Amino acid sequence: MPLKPEQRDKQDSTDDKLFYEFPRFVTHVDEGFIQQLTDLYRERLKPRTRIFDMMSSWVSHLPEEMEFDHVEGHGLNAEELERNRQLNHYFVQNLNENPQLPLLDRDFDAVLNCVSVQYLQYPEAIFSEIHRILKPGGLAIISFSNRMFFQKAIQAWREGSEASRVALVKSYFSSVPGFSPPEVIARQSTAPNLLQWLGVGGGDPFYAVIAQRNN
Ligand SMILES: C[S@@+](CC[C@H](N)C(=O)[O-])C[C@H]1O[C@@H](n2cnc3c(N)ncnc32)[C@H](O)[C@@H]1O
Repeated sequence: MPLKPEQRDKQDSTDDKLFYEFPRFVTHVDEGFIQQLTDLYRERLKPRTRIFDMMSSWVSHLPEEMEFDHVEGHGLNAEELERNRQLNHYFVQNLNENPQLPLLDRDFDAVLNCVSVQYLQYPEAIFSEIHRILKPGGLAIISFSNRMFFQKAIQAWREGSEASRVALVKSYFSSVPGFSPPEVIARQSTAPNLLQWLGVGGGDPFYAVIAQRNN
């Protein structure tokens, strides 16, 4: 079901390009999250295939030892993407201005989106594009945690719970005919229990919603 207009609103409605004008050479989630994501990629991606890392930055979290035929990157900050050693090529495009990807039909084995889906104002259009560029049998892996640039996340995300955000991403997949029923991975923080108990090392929860292009 499509989002209502107000659910697409951001607190900061200025052009997203302004927010990403200066590079951020940081990681947006903790090491436990990144390790789980890299392990998931190791498990689900195949070597010598074509990958599209959308809404990327200076890191793609791909397993270092895996070799791919091509990794295409995309984001809003060219300096960050330039520094990303895992990308073979990249382009800069504001997806809230233009959702159409400059990529061929059925050209990728996997599409990755890490900790960024909350910034999409027209996710139905983007997920339709993800379907278009995937090969039949290709995978889309959307990962996220509970952190965000609050002012840039859409209202439906900001005002939701962690469970409702999972449901939202599942609904993005179901809005496009031709995806498999999405699989959900939901894990609480991997930080040691003692640290969590002391309230000093809560750690980031890990969520991934995964679907396959059927045909
Ligand atoms: C929190 S960062 C995550 C970057 C990267 N995926 C990672 O794991 O570190 C969010 C990314 O979403 C991208 N982004 C945000 N709004 C966007 C928009 N309107 N169009 C395209 N990309 C956008 C930015 O390039 C930014 O790098």
